[in-house]
Amino acid sequence: MKNQELTLLEVPEPAEIRDWATENGITILAHSYQEGFLQEAAHFVGDSLELARYAAKANAKAICFCGVHFMAETAKLLSPEAEVFVPDMEAGCSLADSCKAEDLAAFKEHLTRKLGKRPTTVAYVNCSAAVKAQCDIICTSGNARQVVESIPEDEPILFVPDKHLGGWLNETLGREMILWNGACEVHELFSVDTLKDMQADNPGSITITHPECPKPVRDASDHVLGTAGMLRLVKSSEGETFIVGTEANMIYRFEKEAPQNTYLAAPGASCACNLCPYMQLNTPEKLWASLHKRGPQVDVAEELREPARLALERMLAVV
Ligand code: 13P
Ligand code: SF4
Repeated sequence: MKNQELTLLEVPEPAEIRDWATENGITILAHSYQEGFLQEAAHFVGDSLELARYAAKANAKAICFCGVHFMAETAKLLSPEAEVFVPDMEAGCSLADSCKAEDLAAFKEHLTRKLGKRPTTVAYVNCSAAVKAQCDIICTSGNARQVVESIPEDEPILFVPDKHLGGWLNETLGREMILWNGACEVHELFSVDTLKDMQADNPGSITITHPECPKPVRDASDHVLGTAGMLRLVKSSEGETFIVGTEANMIYRFEKEAPQNTYLAAPGASCACNLCPYMQLNTPEKLWASLHKRGPQVDVAEELREPARLALERMLAVV
């Protein structure tokens, strides 16, 4: 389809958007928490780790990133020559917002005085480039165990920003990492009471939850997995019913790639608030407009690029 045949007033079908992007040298990436339309329009859909790896290897000239800001920043850090832009610049993340770079710097100084040595700082990828630049190594939900295991056991570790993921790592790996007090507003709202009611209503079902969920919810689950681990599990299962404790758009991918199972979205405490309000800011209309504008562009301040990229590359070297 020729560029001029498509106007900003009418949003074409996802496959046409993807073809138009290809013709214009743009790669569309989407996180699995994006609505189905955006996943269908993307050249590649993945979890945070797969998207980071893709950005590092793709050699793309231009990337339109359907996800949240820290994910687009990560793509820019790992693919610095590419123009990286997003459908909506306001698509942030409550977890990333819970750790400000200046607060982290002050806390690291305090800990260094208290411990008599500088702690190794591990950051979950859900944080800003300014935070990444202060950290030794990054992890995602897909490789957090291996990243923490790569650090000698006698080394003090500060883990930021997710206290739930950090708590799960401490429990499962027998570590005593010091945890930043941050949380994801979506995963924190899953309630163990409503989950148990749902399990009672669906005997034989399998509960899968994300490690960003609080401990009582994780403890009531059959498997605690990042989104890529969940996808692997459901694809290798046959005729099961899964209760899914993560952002509800994930179910679109499950139903597409593993339609042989049934999926039930675990509800929030008092509402169906299992959709990420930041991911939801991206819409087909905004995607279509941003492809034409090649903007808004995401960039990283020059002084942050090298240290933040190094922390990401240390992660990619582990797994
Ligand atoms: P994944 O690391 O599983 O892709 O999850 C990202 C995220 O934002 C979870 O809330
Ligand atoms: Fe951030 Fe939570 Fe949304 Fe993931 S689901 S992007 S952690 S607010």
